[in-house]
Amino acid sequence: MPDRYDLPAGFRWGASTAAYQVEGAVDEDGRGRSVWDAFCERPGAVKNGDTGRTACDHYRRWPEDVALMRELGLDTYRFSLAWPRVQPTGRGPANPAGLDFYDRLVDGLLGAGITPLPTLFHWDLPQALEDTGGWLHRDTAHRFAEYAALAADRLGDRVPAWITLNEPFVHMVYGYALGIHAPGRALMLDALPAAHHQLLAHGLAAAELRARGREVLIANNLTPVRPASADPADLAAADAYDTLHNRLFTDPLLLGRYPDLTAYGLGPDPDLGGAVRDGDLALISAPGLDGLGVNYYNPTRIAAPTEPGLPFTEAPVDGVPRTHFGWPVVPEGLPELLRTLRDRYGAALPPITVTENGCSTDAALDDTARTTYLATHLDALARATAEGIDVRGYCTWSLLDNFEWAEGYTQRFGLVHVDFATQRRTPKASFTWYRDLIAAHRGCVQ
Ligand code: FCB
Repeated sequence: MPDRYDLPAGFRWGASTAAYQVEGAVDEDGRGRSVWDAFCERPGAVKNGDTGRTACDHYRRWPEDVALMRELGLDTYRFSLAWPRVQPTGRGPANPAGLDFYDRLVDGLLGAGITPLPTLFHWDLPQALEDTGGWLHRDTAHRFAEYAALAADRLGDRVPAWITLNEPFVHMVYGYALGIHAPGRALMLDALPAAHHQLLAHGLAAAELRARGREVLIANNLTPVRPASADPADLAAADAYDTLHNRLFTDPLLLGRYPDLTAYGLGPDPDLGGAVRDGDLALISAPGLDGLGVNYYNPTRIAAPTEPGLPFTEAPVDGVPRTHFGWPVVPEGLPELLRTLRDRYGAALPPITVTENGCSTDAALDDTARTTYLATHLDALARATAEGIDVRGYCTWSLLDNFEWAEGYTQRFGLVHVDFATQRRTPKASFTWYRDLIAAHRGCVQ
């Protein structure tokens, strides 16, 4: 395995987490209830009845976690703010005690030489907003902009760049279309207003952040889509899937229009269930996306539909290793995806940061599979940068083993092992490898 990759000068190394997955302390300092607190209480919703009540207790143990990040030599820590800590019911004045936590964390990071890269929304909507319609309701976008302004007013003097949303595609599909994540609604295509309202929220919040002189990114889950065969029916299905997964959440930002959803019976200029109003797309695409965050895990193979409903079926990606989660390991998918973005968006594509990439393993500490996953993906990423694709940094998912949504604590993605009974942290072999890799680049990159 190489001890360094040929990456651009100034390339930034990071690791990611998200509030509900690590913080715990759900009743602390006036935090309100989130949709995930409610979802975890539903019998059978999360494996083993696990919840994020304690998670990694990062809320209290963050100094120890920042010390681990410092040992790694991270440039960037990507974390998320819990909206219900900042505004317990999703509206009204800020809860100062909630913001105090992020204030301490930001100062702790800066003291360790690490740039904070916060995400404003990583799926933990205040339950009070879900009760009035959540992301199906247009007003939630306005509430989000207000929350973004409160957060930036308190932390913006020390936080140069902000990520508005994490993976609006996954949140819409898992949370509102299929009901396997919070808020657990199974609306299928009737979930589409949740796409538009999240993007509108991004646009409105971006304006608040830009007005305060801050940089704005969004983190999208993107996947290269591979047709199962050259059969025209498979090609059409792959195109339909690509439109839903990738283009629906990126075209409006970079091109100012929604993709053609004729394959879904919604036409070439879809209004997403009547959600789109005049002027919205101009707001969503307003100049000011300083970077596109790309969360990449694996490619998707798509075949023609086998039953009525959606215009595609997912087919297995065969002949490759799989993670503990069962996800196919295809490092080449990352440059494949980045080339598609370059070809599709041309000059409209902002610089890219890989905001998530990683794998779950069942090994406690000797996690060779993780090191191999990360090393092969970085090698593939370096090839994309050599072709001139502007990638500025890489954040691995995740710093710590944590609460993996509907999978509870059964999927461990961390560089650091967490014993959830004792909260003891133990760096894994991949931690040492990542630390040495970062150090090798520090020595070489001018
Ligand atoms: C992504 C999520 C992140 C984590 C990883 C494994 O889709 O953004 O919170 O769960 O998957």
